[in-house]
Amino acid sequence: MTSTPLDLDNIQGDILVGLLKNTETYYFFTIGDDVNAFRRQLSLVVPFVTSTTAAMSDRATVAQSKKEALAQGRKPPLIPVAGFNIAFSQPGLKKMGIVDDIGDDGFKKGQFADSQDLGDKGSTVNGKFVPDWIPAFKHAIDGVMILSGETQLSVDKTLAQVKAILRVGAHNATIHEVIKIVGVVRPGDQRAHEHFGFLDGISNPAVRGFDTEKPGQGQVDPGVILLGHDDTSRPAWAKDGSFLAFRYLFQLVPEFNLFLKQNPLRINNLTDEQGSELLGARLVGRWKSGAPVDLAPLADDPELGADPMRNNNFSYSFPNDFSTQTRCPFAAHLRKTNPRNDLFQIAGPKSVEPHRIIRRGIQFGPEVTPLEAHDNRTHLGRGLLFVCYQSVLSAGFQFLQKSWSNNRPFPPQKPQEPGIDPIIGQINPSDPNKVRSMSGTNPNLQDATLDLPTWVVPRGGEYFFSPSISTLRDTFAL
Ligand code: HEM
Repeated sequence: MTSTPLDLDNIQGDILVGLLKNTETYYFFTIGDDVNAFRRQLSLVVPFVTSTTAAMSDRATVAQSKKEALAQGRKPPLIPVAGFNIAFSQPGLKKMGIVDDIGDDGFKKGQFADSQDLGDKGSTVNGKFVPDWIPAFKHAIDGVMILSGETQLSVDKTLAQVKAILRVGAHNATIHEVIKIVGVVRPGDQRAHEHFGFLDGISNPAVRGFDTEKPGQGQVDPGVILLGHDDTSRPAWAKDGSFLAFRYLFQLVPEFNLFLKQNPLRINNLTDEQGSELLGARLVGRWKSGAPVDLAPLADDPELGADPMRNNNFSYSFPNDFSTQTRCPFAAHLRKTNPRNDLFQIAGPKSVEPHRIIRRGIQFGPEVTPLEAHDNRTHLGRGLLFVCYQSVLSAGFQFLQKSWSNNRPFPPQKPQEPGIDPIIGQINPSDPNKVRSMSGTNPNLQDATLDLPTWVVPRGGEYFFSPSISTLRDTFAL
């Protein structure tokens, strides 16, 4: 564990705090031919970068204004905030002449080369696997700028300023746009809920020496998220940076809703509607309100869901939880991606810590239209711009997706094979059993397996390195 305090002015703000946002634009780019021109202009972009200190101050300002507005019985005003972070892929670093070994194979190979192992669908072209991604992500991307704000107007204003500095569109442009993806939080009471309707962003680990841990949250050493803290093998410039895994995930919401409707759990005299709600909660591991099924196994408890002192305070450790799926299926999305006591009991209290990630990201796309709801079919693209931070990709995102979510026997030592994570699990290329299925959806028939359609479709992604602000200024920029 690091004994020196974290340099909060040096670490980009999205990593430990998260950029404040109602809307967030991901601007993917390639660096132009005149790389030195780009590096010179980059020095003028560095002052835009939101540090951890600045992100904390934005949060404090907005929270204070909300508090004052509530006390005076008025609607909280929109406080202007403009967040900006920037990260580079391996090809981007190479172009800039940054060729030291950063010590992460996943980053070096990139996500396109990893897509088959992640379980993404695709086809073989000239002997090579090509994922079913949108074209933009099938070509090298050198970097991504993340711009956030309270309105699209403030995001667009920052983007216009940065694009002008980098001379985008001019004959001497220093970067070229590959794709710009706009994310937006969902409206009204669905704010902070992902498109299937479940409250998201509840469980992220507390970073020792930075966050105050809430009950059940779990702590990680800074070195689990930031490079150059517990490791001595990384180049000096990597310190205070983090790997950013980006995934462009489309969600088939009407199809998900139809499945729940067609497969209500018929137990405990629940109505069909309640049985469908319970099935959804058991697939995720939380009710739509955020209440964990491990604490509220049969009915939603919105107060529990909304209470940060209680909504993470569980570990699948009630008597018999280790070997039954009565409260929560072994394969529920939550249990697969943070198995808590399922691993503590086998491998000790520190066993999950290296695999914790900090999740950011935002929703994209419109609400389900009446026509889509009527047809039970997706016509418009919507989903999650998934982003997570970690210091070792093969222990973080890659591990969660491949070794836990896609891995049928995980968590281990269970009386029934858990099956695949119903939300994000994909079939491993080496898995002879080519169905997406899980056991334990029905607490009264735990041996029964349920076949699951696919509701989350990856259409692109990349691994980036989000450097410290001093590295951006002194090493990457000229
Ligand atoms: C938690 C949905 C993709 C890892 C959650 C939660 C929801 C959710 C509703 C519960 C809220 C919370 O505990 O914060 C989704 C959806 C996804 C998606 C709809 C895709 C569209 C992913 C991916 C990963 C992931 C790609 C990583 C491979 C996690 C983790 C947690 C979580 C680590 C917290 C588990 C815990 O600490 O108990 N997700 N997720 N999710 N998800 Fe996802």
